[in-house]
Amino acid sequence: MSGSGPQISASILAADFSALGLACEAAERAGADRIHVDVMDGHGVPNLTFGAPLCRDIRPHIAGPMELHLMIAPFGPLLPSFIATKPETIILHPTASTWGDLKDSLVQISQAGISAGVSLDPDVEVERLRPFVPFLDLVCVMTVVAGFGGQTFMPGPLAKAHEVRALFGGRPVAIEFDGGVDAKSAPSCREAGGDILVAGTAIFGAGSAEGYRDAIRALRGN
Ligand code: DX5
Ligand code: ZN
Repeated sequence: MSGSGPQISASILAADFSALGLACEAAERAGADRIHVDVMDGHGVPNLTFGAPLCRDIRPHIAGPMELHLMIAPFGPLLPSFIATKPETIILHPTASTWGDLKDSLVQISQAGISAGVSLDPDVEVERLRPFVPFLDLVCVMTVVAGFGGQTFMPGPLAKAHEVRALFGGRPVAIEFDGGVDAKSAPSCREAGGDILVAGTAIFGAGSAEGYRDAIRALRGN
């Protein structure tokens, strides 16, 4: 149950990979509003996690929204296989070689009835999103350089939340902060206007069911 405050999205990147279905269930039981699934292919970012078959197999273990954070390059060839896993949201992480395909991929996602998002590394300016505004439901502001869990939170990108709202004018957009979000950095994320806070290490690093629950409560700030 979300209560007041931002939604909390549990990133299973920090969970036990031998039992990801159970990790999703445990995070939801502990109060997570969404499950964040980091897909890395060694091209979109210099790290490798897993692909669509795993997303398909954890789907029945997630009662609420599943969001796929696709850090892959190119998007096109594999996107249909991720759409087929029936997530509520797909967030694309564009890199130099994939900005050109971004619009078509976002349209494909929306046409499948899935919320479409984009993530911005700390050094990417919000202005870059201008041509994509009509095709976006969510902007994920990275507060670390995408690619690895457990990194140190960077406060600089928080200011992008205001820039995103300004760019979107009155158009509704969900703003997510992803990377290094923990009990210490969460208050500044909430003050900056984040609708969704993603956390991996802060939740799954807490060890027990009780620990997950306390961590999620601290992130939400209530
Ligand atoms: C980083 C990922 C994040 C990561 C967050 O590239 O996109 O979602 O899992 O993990 P923590 O909370 O450990 O920084
Ligand atoms: Zn992520």
